[in-house]
Amino acid sequence: MVRSPAGVITNQWKCPKQAPEKHLVHPTSCEFDDYLPVGGAVAYALILVDVKVDLRDAQVRDLSDVAYATGAGMRVRVATHHEAGQCDIVMITAGSRYGFGKETFQTKKKKNQPGLCSFVKQIIGETSIQHMHRNASAIRNVVKAMTPFRSDAIVLVVSNPVDLLTSIAQELAGLPKFQVFGSGTFLESVRIRGLLAEKAGVAASSIQLFVLGVHGDGQVVAWSSATINGIPLDKVLSPDTSGHQELAKECKERAETIFTTKGATPFGTGSVVASICASILFDKREVRPVSHFQPEFDCCFSLPVVLGRKGIMKTIEMPLGSDENAAIARSAHRLKSTIELTDK
Ligand code: 2OP
Repeated sequence: MVRSPAGVITNQWKCPKQAPEKHLVHPTSCEFDDYLPVGGAVAYALILVDVKVDLRDAQVRDLSDVAYATGAGMRVRVATHHEAGQCDIVMITAGSRYGFGKETFQTKKKKNQPGLCSFVKQIIGETSIQHMHRNASAIRNVVKAMTPFRSDAIVLVVSNPVDLLTSIAQELAGLPKFQVFGSGTFLESVRIRGLLAEKAGVAASSIQLFVLGVHGDGQVVAWSSATINGIPLDKVLSPDTSGHQELAKECKERAETIFTTKGATPFGTGSVVASICASILFDKREVRPVSHFQPEFDCCFSLPVVLGRKGIMKTIEMPLGSDENAAIARSAHRLKSTIELTDK
């Protein structure tokens, strides 16, 4: 079959003071029954771009081993930025890893610096704003090097702060906005459903509940629209039983609790990214909360959309409580001021 590759992963990691750490999203899926066929089919051809040539080559070999092990017939190879821009889906994980030790987290909190994601790995002595500038600059370089993109390419931003970086990618990609979006709060939505499922004794797949807004600190759980198989959550469980506040807190802190110990959340992130890619490549029209442009706030953050072969096929107007709308607006305004800072 002569076709351009299905996907590309970029991992442009430049850090003058310390060695790079692995941060690459793997095409895994949370449902292991699905993983082999879906992962294999989604990534029947995968190309990798990275300024760290040794890391890139090691990743190509490691991912090729997955192809050998699964018999998926997937090809993995190195490519140029220009080739990457000609893919069906361009997945950007550029920038320094957002995994992070407790120390960094506490330092940032103490200084009360504006942050969109609680977890920002910083070079020692670097502020979170400097870190954000660094990641913003990495994404600018990657996107510029890939332009012009194939006219129907989908650009999926995974790096953090994902909402801010999605806004930058949209500005530079030269593609319609519905083709450039970020993984956003999809992972948080998966997390909150899983946490509630455990508490309520109901399968997560029977729960409809979204986390919306700005990924990380700005996330808002849309409890008011939660249902269990279409039945409003509060008709099935009392808020006391489901423990909304505790679950929301646990969801917000979950990435940190993983990072603190293992330094990254690659499996969770990889799973939702694989699911997004499957929605696109197989035109599944699934409703997903992904980061996309919000004209009212002039920035990107997550609200539910329908994902298909052309990217965002339509947006879904979700009725939200006034407190939820207000919380989303607050985090959007904070995001917008941070974008203005990184523009300077
Ligand atoms: C996560 O939520 C930090 O985006 C990363 O796991």
